[in-house]
Amino acid sequence: MDIATLSATAEALVAPGKGILAADESSGTIKKRFDSISTESTESNRRDYREMLFTAKGIAEYISGVILFDETIRQTAADGTLLVKLLEDQGIIPGIKVDLGAKPLALSEGETVTEGLDGLRERLAEYRGLGARFAKWRATYSISDALPSADCIDVNAHALARYAALCQEADIVPIVEPEVLMDGDHTIERSFQVTSDVLDALYEALYVQRVRLDGTLLKPNMVLSGYGASQQATVEEVAEATVRCFRAMVPSAVPGIVFLSGGQSDELATAHLNAMNKLGPHPWQLSFSYGRALQAPALKAWKGESANVDAGRDAFLHRAKLNSAARSGSYTPDMEKAAS
Ligand code: 13P
Repeated sequence: MDIATLSATAEALVAPGKGILAADESSGTIKKRFDSISTESTESNRRDYREMLFTAKGIAEYISGVILFDETIRQTAADGTLLVKLLEDQGIIPGIKVDLGAKPLALSEGETVTEGLDGLRERLAEYRGLGARFAKWRATYSISDALPSADCIDVNAHALARYAALCQEADIVPIVEPEVLMDGDHTIERSFQVTSDVLDALYEALYVQRVRLDGTLLKPNMVLSGYGASQQATVEEVAEATVRCFRAMVPSAVPGIVFLSGGQSDELATAHLNAMNKLGPHPWQLSFSYGRALQAPALKAWKGESANVDAGRDAFLHRAKLNSAARSGSYTPDMEKAAS
C-alpha cells in the first residue's frame, strides 16, 4: 500500500470547487433512466450518452473524478478512443464501481447485504490496469420502526471494511458508501439516529481491519426527513442535522465526505450541500458524488437523439457548475436560471 498516493488521490477528488460524477449505473438502473426518455438501453446508446457527459467542454473545472461501470471502463468513444483516456486527458480521475449489488440478507425480511468480495483482489488488479484509481462499494439500509437491524448494520460494515482494505492493498482509493435510504415517513431525528448508528459501526470496522482513513472517502446519505413524512425539514435544518451527525461520527483524518443525492431533486441536492458548506469550515471537505442530481437535466435534454448532444452537454455543465458553487457556499437559487 502506497499511502502517499492514496491520500493524494483522495485529496484530488475533493479539490476545492470540484466533485465526483457517479456514472456507474448498473445495466438495470441505466435501463430505467433510459426508459424515462423512451430510449432503448443498447450498448451504443449507453456509450453515446456517457461520451456526451465526459466531453462537455470545460467540465474538468467542476468534476474531479467519474465513477464508471464495468462496461464503461472498457468502452471506446465513437472515434475509437477509450472513454477512460478521454477523462484522463482532461485530468479527470477514473473510478470504478466494484460491488455486485445489494442482495436480500438471509433470515432478515426487507434488508440487504452487498455482495462482491469473492475474487475482488483479482478484479481490482485488473481495474487498476484499466486506469481506475478509486472505487466504490454501496451498502443500503432501510428505515422502518424495526429496521435497520443491528445485524444488517454489522454485516454491511464488515463487508465495506473488507472491500476498503483490498482496495488500499491495490493502491486504489476506496469510497465507502453506506446509504441509509430515505423512503418512508420517518422523521429527520430518526434519520439522524440510524445514520449515526451506521457510521459508528462502519468506522469501528475500518479501524479493526487496518484501513488508513486518510486514503479513503465517505459517500453517505444526507440526514433528511423520510420522503413520505408529512413534515419536511427545511434546507437549514437538513444542513444543521447532517453536519452535527458527521461531526460526531466521522474522524477528521477522512479527507472528504462526498454525498450521494439519493432521489432528492437536483436543485435541493445543490441547496443542501451549499447550506452545509456555509456552516464551515469543517474537519473534512464536503462535496458531491451525485448520480441523478447531476445527470437528470442532461438526460432530459438529450432524449437519446444525436441532434441534442450539445443541449445535453450544456445542461450537464450548468448543473456541475452550480454544485461547484455549492462547494464554497456561494450557490444562490437565482443561478438556476442563468444560462450555462
Ligand atoms: P444518486 O446521486 O443518484 O443517489 O447516485 C449516487 C450513487 O452513486 C448511488 O450509488
